Amino acid sequence: MKILFYDAKSYDRESFDDVLRDYDGVSIDYLDSDISVRTARLAAGYDAVCVFVASPVTGEVVRVLFEKGVRLILLRCAGYNNVDLDACEEYGITVMRVPGYSPETVAEHAMALALAANRRLHKAYIRVRENNFSLVGLTGTNFYKKTAGIIGTGKIGAAMCRICRGFGMRILAYDVNENPELDFTEYTSLERLLSESDLISLHCPLTDDTYHMIDSGAVSMMKNGVVLVNTSRGALIKTDDLIAGIREHKFAGVGLDVYEEENDNVFENREDDILEDSTTAMLLSFPNVIVTSHQGFLTGEALRAISETTVENAASFEEGSPEASNVIRAGAVV
Ligand code: NAI
Repeated sequence: MKILFYDAKSYDRESFDDVLRDYDGVSIDYLDSDISVRTARLAAGYDAVCVFVASPVTGEVVRVLFEKGVRLILLRCAGYNNVDLDACEEYGITVMRVPGYSPETVAEHAMALALAANRRLHKAYIRVRENNFSLVGLTGTNFYKKTAGIIGTGKIGAAMCRICRGFGMRILAYDVNENPELDFTEYTSLERLLSESDLISLHCPLTDDTYHMIDSGAVSMMKNGVVLVNTSRGALIKTDDLIAGIREHKFAGVGLDVYEEENDNVFENREDDILEDSTTAMLLSFPNVIVTSHQGFLTGEALRAISETTVENAASFEEGSPEASNVIRAGAVV
């Protein structure tokens, strides 16, 4: 099983090379570039390609991969909205993913963003470095005895519920499927959750149903002074409506690990670029907004789990018995 690994970073190479020591018969070549129609041509002679969360696996890319003989797309992430699954089905290419590597990794980052935005840690850090010890503008609120609204209570949302419980918060939850393990949370309608929560954290996948679920109507239902966190997918929030809400002083803080325009930015150093027409630049101009670059997954534990499951996916596919729960779309070749 020969894998071509796109958009490889140093931390990817380290954790995958470590795991490969335990596997005979699986080899990986790393590419710095992400996948595109042009770079997909380099996959000739490989059985599989390995891509990440923002890799544009379009129908055209899938067609090129098929022509080059690729049979398997390995997503080293949970989300798969960046892959044209219909094209994969058409060309008989199997798609596998890592459904849950460390839910606490992402949930802890969500709480880190909530705390940083609420207590203005991003501003405090810069001030103190400049010998400015003023506290003006840094006032936050307690989370203790406040209400957390968790939207999507799968693996990561459930971990976020447990963290919020540890903070002494009342927890409201909204999901199309209730999680029976969360007997300390109260499931309710989205409208009630939006209108009663002091902290709202998004943990549902991006689907046709959830696209722009936080729009001007949702923002208008929220309490003044709410903290909003998104570590799930950018397009859950309609950015223009979020910006309008920020301008109307709706939010005490906003913490975003994902945002609609992120794809050109994710994991790239763009410090010398002028971001033209960028809503990202506008978001960054607000004092109560903190943005991280899709780093919710980035802990040693999660990287290890991602590389183990990805290599296992490749090996099990090669043996003809791919782990069913990791298969998103089974190609004809399985
Ligand atoms: P999961 O599949 O365990 O849970 C998702 C939950 O959302 C399920 O309980 C499902 O019933 C619920 N859901 C689906 N449609 C819904 C709707 N219309 N309204 C309300 N709830 C709905 O997924 P998991 O592992 O908890 O991941 C959640 C999301 O986190 C992923 O889809 C991904 O987008 C994001 N993620 C972000 C990472 C980061 O680095 N920032 C890393 C990993 C995942």
